Amino acid sequence: MTKIDTPSADLALRERMAAEVPAKMLKHIDRVVKLTDRLARRHHLDVAKARLMAQGHDLVRAVEPAELLRRAEARGMAIDPVDRGSPVVLHGPIGALELAERFDVTDEDVRFAIWWHTPGHPDYTPEAWAMFIADKVDPHKVKRWPALAEVRELADRSLEEAAVKYLDLRLQESIERGTPVQPMATLTRNALLRRLGRAGGEA
Ligand SMILES: [Fe+2]
Ligand SMILES: [Fe+2]
Repeated sequence: MTKIDTPSADLALRERMAAEVPAKMLKHIDRVVKLTDRLARRHHLDVAKARLMAQGHDLVRAVEPAELLRRAEARGMAIDPVDRGSPVVLHGPIGALELAERFDVTDEDVRFAIWWHTPGHPDYTPEAWAMFIADKVDPHKVKRWPALAEVRELADRSLEEAAVKYLDLRLQESIERGTPVQPMATLTRNALLRRLGRAGGEA
């Protein structure tokens, strides 16, 4: 795993992103960077790398879903039918690609973490989990959905336990609403359950 050598890499990126990211989104990103920093320190991770993941994660979150779909199609990307039905989730992959192309973000771990930050990924690094959890428990989101408070509390002890809790909540929500689940969210949850020794089940 490469190490981000410039401790202020995220600040330089923030400055460049500010020209195109709406103020409200920048505030969300600032809160996520702050919380990612706290979680990365608590779990003795590469703080600079985790901060850069957090800084870049929502580069194109404010872009209209139809435009995200257009950009994905223009690149010839394989688009899962669930994502096609909810193209907002394409902001992770498109953001990861544009960070490399337009913002010189070359670190593979950072780009991978950002690509998958909506459903998580079985191969996520601990730094990626710190960013993922921080994004999900932004205080504004917890206020809208108080069940997320439990995810925030678990994160102090275990980022993976917190991630499973988050994916459980989203799965329950999908069942209640009768909406589809992103395939990668299921693969991620299964992988986390295996790692946490909870993979047993009835045949
Ligand atoms: Fe996002
Ligand atoms: Fe976000």
